Amino acid sequence: TGLRPLIAGNWKMNGLKASASELGQMIAGAGGPAQKADLLICPPATLVLAFAGAVQGSPLRIGAQDCHPNPSGAHTGDTSAEMLADSGATAIIVGHSERRADHGETDALVRQKAEAAWRAALIAIVCVGETQDQRDAGQTLEVVGRQLAGSLPDGATAANLVVAYEPVWAIGTGRTPTPKDVQDVHGFIRDQLTQRFSGEGARIRILYGGSVKPSNAAELMAVPNVNGALIGGASLKATDFLAIAGAV
Ligand code: G3H
Repeated sequence: TGLRPLIAGNWKMNGLKASASELGQMIAGAGGPAQKADLLICPPATLVLAFAGAVQGSPLRIGAQDCHPNPSGAHTGDTSAEMLADSGATAIIVGHSERRADHGETDALVRQKAEAAWRAALIAIVCVGETQDQRDAGQTLEVVGRQLAGSLPDGATAANLVVAYEPVWAIGTGRTPTPKDVQDVHGFIRDQLTQRFSGEGARIRILYGGSVKPSNAAELMAVPNVNGALIGGASLKATDFLAIAGAV
């Protein structure tokens, strides 16, 4: 579709100060892949400041994995989008299925978090995806449609929004949908985006996530309306992350 792909790594609750050496290897190898794709690593919040400093002058960018909807206030343990922007993040993942499951995040809350990212001038990477039960019941498009309608704020543009389709059953399992299944869901998401955001909707990137690895990246990235990847486990290793990024 001609959109510049985004290859994003979600480190989840992994990474310590010593992980800077892995990041260093990514920086060292990013030049080639960055010719064709944007590269983003989302470490835990504890590492955003240091990592953002480390990637300066490289094509890598640093993102966060969640934010509170409010800019500041009495919310013990939470982190605002403004704080993450101040630490050097350029994007925030919101509505990951692990947060929807572990913290009961609703579409309405995810939407507020996306708006918070925009308020801090950051890209919101909004995640959607069906569970195994929902897929088995033939509800995939219904579920994804409902999540999109509820989680995406008005005013989305190709510059401020990325959508990530992550079938919950494919996350960390080694199982992936067939290219045909990915194409069907991404095509559906594209239709929803263009219906709601017209011309901008045609240019908003739609990432696939769920067990992306070097061996399946080329096939998945070649599917129409797949504009990049959101990578969990394989993004923890520089060699794997760079191999995936090189496959677009
Ligand atoms: O955000 C990333 C996804 O949840 C995918 O995780 O690549 O380990 O399956 P995974």
